Parts: sequence; structure tokens; C-alpha cells
Amino acid sequence: MQNDKTRSKQTCVILGCGGHGRVVLDILRGAAIYEAVGFVDSNPEMIGRRIDGIEVLGTPNDLPALRDRLGVGHAIVAIGDNGVRRALSDEIESIGFELINAIHPSANVARNVTLGRNIVISAGALVCAHCQIGDSVILNTGCIVDHETLVGTATHICPGSRLAGRVAVESGAFIGIGATIIQSLRIGYEAVVGAGAVVIDDVAPMSTVVGVPAREVKSIQKTAELNGWLVPEMSRPISGRAEVMESIIAASDSQ
Ligand SMILES: CC(C)(COP(=O)(O)OP(=O)(O)OC[C@H]1O[C@@H](n2cnc3c(N)ncnc32)[C@H](O)[C@@H]1OP(=O)(O)O)[C@@H](O)C(=O)NCCC(=O)NCCS
Repeated sequence: MQNDKTRSKQTCVILGCGGHGRVVLDILRGAAIYEAVGFVDSNPEMIGRRIDGIEVLGTPNDLPALRDRLGVGHAIVAIGDNGVRRALSDEIESIGFELINAIHPSANVARNVTLGRNIVISAGALVCAHCQIGDSVILNTGCIVDHETLVGTATHICPGSRLAGRVAVESGAFIGIGATIIQSLRIGYEAVVGAGAVVIDDVAPMSTVVGVPAREVKSIQKTAELNGWLVPEMSRPISGRAEVMESIIAASDSQ
């Protein structure tokens, strides 16, 4: 039987019942803002199974019916693959679900950070002043995102990785476990930074860099002219975002 506290929470579903989905369930339970009533997974064989105490209710195609049957209108996409996470979040938003964020109570997020939606911030992550975190970003366990850093749509900042101040991580990039990015660098869209790398130069879009200092080992496309292309979702108004952006630009100009 539900107690009063549980009943007053809004309900949500978690898309993806794999390892990341379980982590997100744990975060939501700790944060105690939304009650996860079940998983949704694209593998129909998972339907009916119970995972960490809640059931796999259906596939993404079943979401409209689940909303009607259970009255659930919120969702979070807990899938590690950046592209799939982004595509699914667009899809479920288009059918009327509101995307929520899962922020672990032990994460430390500065008050003037701007956040998109469908964001996961795991245990022990630090997000410092004036950062902007785009939609569908994963800031994984114990990572550090330092001041005025921009983290673009559907990126994954893996456990223990460290982004110094004023770094720009473009959409779809993957920063491997324990990697370090020094200040004011740009990590191009869909780039991959290998585990443990120390990045001291900009990383080209769609390339892979590894090692200390990081060197490019794979490149699909050499750096195009990227001026004017950064984090597209930042153009969507979120309360306070414009002011934060202005202050970042003003601070950079005064240097
Ligand atoms: C970089 C990475 C993505 C591999 O990419 P890949 O495109 O499959 O590249 P390959 O495995 O073919 O490796 C290419 C070269 O880089 C080297 N390499 C790969 N990963 C490396 C790393 N982390 N550090 C140093 N060298 C690395 C390989 O030894 C290989 O070197 P060689 O050409 O001299 O033989 C992967 O090794 C990695 O580091 N993944 C991060 C995983 C992670 O952080 N997981 C956390 C999830 S929460």
C-alpha cells in the first residue's frame, strides 16, 4: 500500500531496462521527486519481467496506451547510446510525454547551471558555476564539469572524467571513463575521447583520440568550419539561460 508521500509524487516510466536504466531507477528513488512505475524497452521479450522491483510494461509503441491506462505522462530515456537516446527522446516527446531529469542527491550542481531535459546526473558528479547542460546528456558517476563549460545534446561524460573550465563539448560526443580535458577546448560533435586520455588540443568532429597527451587514432571527417555550430538546443529558451550565456560571453571578452 502506498503511503501519502509516495502517492503525492508524479509518476514516470524509464525507457531502457539495461544497466543504465537500473542506475536511473536508483537515482529516481533517491531523489524522491518522481515515482518510476515501470520500464519500457524495445525488446518485447523483456515485457512482464520485474527488474529491481518494477515491471517492464511494454515497448515504446505501447507508450500511448500506458499513458491512458496508468495516467503516466513523464518519461526519461535511460539508454547509453547517444544517438538512440536522442532519437527516442524526440519520439516520445512528440507523442506528448514530458521528459524529466534524474539528479542523484549526492550530485553537486551549482545553482546557476542551466539544464535541458532528459538529463541524468549520477552520484558524486560535480557541475560548477555557469555550466550549460543540454538535452539528453549523461553526466556519469563522479565526473567533474567545471565552470562555464557547455555540454551539448546527447553527450555522455563517463565516470570520473574531468572537464576543466570553458570547455565546449558538442552534440553526441563521448568522453571516456577517467579522461581529462584541459580548459577552453572544443570537443567536436560525435567525437570519442578514449578512457584515461588527457586532451590538450581541440578534438575534430567524429574523430577518436586516445592516450596522454591525446592523439587522433580515427577520423571520419576532418574539422569543418564550425563557427556558429555549437550546442543547438541552447537556442531554446530555458529560464535564466540567456543571462548565463551573456555573462559567459562578457567574461570571455574581458580576458
Ligand atoms: C577509444 C575506444 C572507444 C576504442 O575505440 P576504437 O575505435 O574501437 O579503437 P581501437 O580499439 O581500434 O583502438 C585504436 C588504437 O587506440 C588504442 N587505444 C584504444 N583505446 C585506448 C585508450 N583508452 N587509451 C590508450 N590507447 C587506446 C588501441 O590500442 C589502438 O592502438 P593501435 O592502433 O596502436 O593498435 C575505447 O578503447 C575506449 O577507451 N573506450 C572508453 C570506454 C569507456 O569509457 N567506458 C565507460 C562507459 S560508462
